Amino acid sequence: MRTKVAIIGAGPAGLLLGRLLDKAGIETVILERRSQDYVLGRIRAGVLEQGTVELLDKAGVSERLHADGLIHDGVELCFDGDKHRFNFHELIGRTVTVYGQTEVTRDLMQARDASGAKTIYEAENVSLHDFDSDKPKVRYLKDGVEHELACDFIAGCDGYHGVARASVPAGSIRKFERVYPFGWLGILVDRPPVAEELIYAHHERGFALCSMRSPTRSRYYVQVPADEQVQEWSDDRFWDELRRRVDEETADNLVTGPSIEKSIAPLRSFVAEPLRFGRLFLAGDAAHIVPPTGAKGLNLAASDVGALAEAFIAFYAERSSAGIDGYSARVLSRIWKAERFSWWMTSILHTFPDTDAFSRRIQRAEFDYLRSSEAAARSLAENYTGLPM
Ligand code: FAD
Ligand code: DHB
Repeated sequence: MRTKVAIIGAGPAGLLLGRLLDKAGIETVILERRSQDYVLGRIRAGVLEQGTVELLDKAGVSERLHADGLIHDGVELCFDGDKHRFNFHELIGRTVTVYGQTEVTRDLMQARDASGAKTIYEAENVSLHDFDSDKPKVRYLKDGVEHELACDFIAGCDGYHGVARASVPAGSIRKFERVYPFGWLGILVDRPPVAEELIYAHHERGFALCSMRSPTRSRYYVQVPADEQVQEWSDDRFWDELRRRVDEETADNLVTGPSIEKSIAPLRSFVAEPLRFGRLFLAGDAAHIVPPTGAKGLNLAASDVGALAEAFIAFYAERSSAGIDGYSARVLSRIWKAERFSWWMTSILHTFPDTDAFSRRIQRAEFDYLRSSEAAARSLAENYTGLPM
């Protein structure tokens, strides 16, 4: 079998890259380790930047997003019960769209299936070969039979634990990492959201986030220790803890119900450099991880593959390698901006094991500064709603 671009991973990065290339007439094959239902069952991000929405428009997969997505003008930050609304639209004229990663993935899968482009789910033992030559190939097992896929390029869109980054010789890659001593316990519930916009709450007992998927479906998170077990959290325990961490009005308005999903996500900052190794390119979580506090993970994955698609399109249309040569430096500049913002949001909003009285006052001072300085609020708005390349 032969294709132009072999894409490893059918998460949002791999599917969006596949779709953008498909629209430009560039053939791709996607190899995904899991089943389609498994990929669709993962509950992850919920906030889309304007740039991500524009890319999904360009990919022709945004009809449902525009019909069902919720446009939010701002967010609320709550510090020890004091709440302040940041109106991004008023500050800088930009908004965000609340539309779940699961739905983005579903829209992309449907478009791919309709176009006839090939996706191989449950591809086992994927391995990458000869990407330092001009004849790269990918081998995999499907239903116990070994296959080889020859290609011009390989796009590693297989997430943090994937095979693509792991295939690069250790001496050719540098990794920058910070693991946080806590995770987020999240629940999904078929009850109306507690407020019209997202509430990010700092409390001595830990961070909490009130988010949503639709006018009838809510998503809530509380910070928990890194080694916490999800079985130890009954729904009642979750609701009690959430109420303690938010302001009184929010606690009183909370509409609780049985959870339909409950899971813990670890928090990590990670960047690999560079992101190109001969004919192998890394994009999305395969290349970097941000802690979820800044709502950047999915948006970064989208901007990476937007740039990578442009680079491949220029290569095939003009035989120009300028785009593929410049890919790594171009996207890393934006990636580090998102890393900085996500790290900063995480630092001010969470309680760390070593948070002492001084650090607590500094966190409070950051919040007071954001509340009192228009320049600081504008900076928050610019970073949250989208970052320049
Ligand atoms: P993924 O979505 O991870 O997709 C990679 C795909 O590659 C997967 O389908 C995987 O099965 C496949 N794969 C892996 N290894 C192989 C292999 N060897 N062979 C073939 N296929 C392979 N971001 C936010 O902004 N807010 C959040 O609340 C949030 N919550 C998250 C919770 C969790 C548990 C995780 C893991 C991430 C969360 N994120 C969140 C981050 C966001 O979801 C990711 O940034 C986004 O999914 C990145 O997309 P991706 O396509 O790069 O990677
Ligand atoms: C959601 C997740 C985030 O990490 C975030 O910052 C905002 C919203 C969510 O899942 O809804």
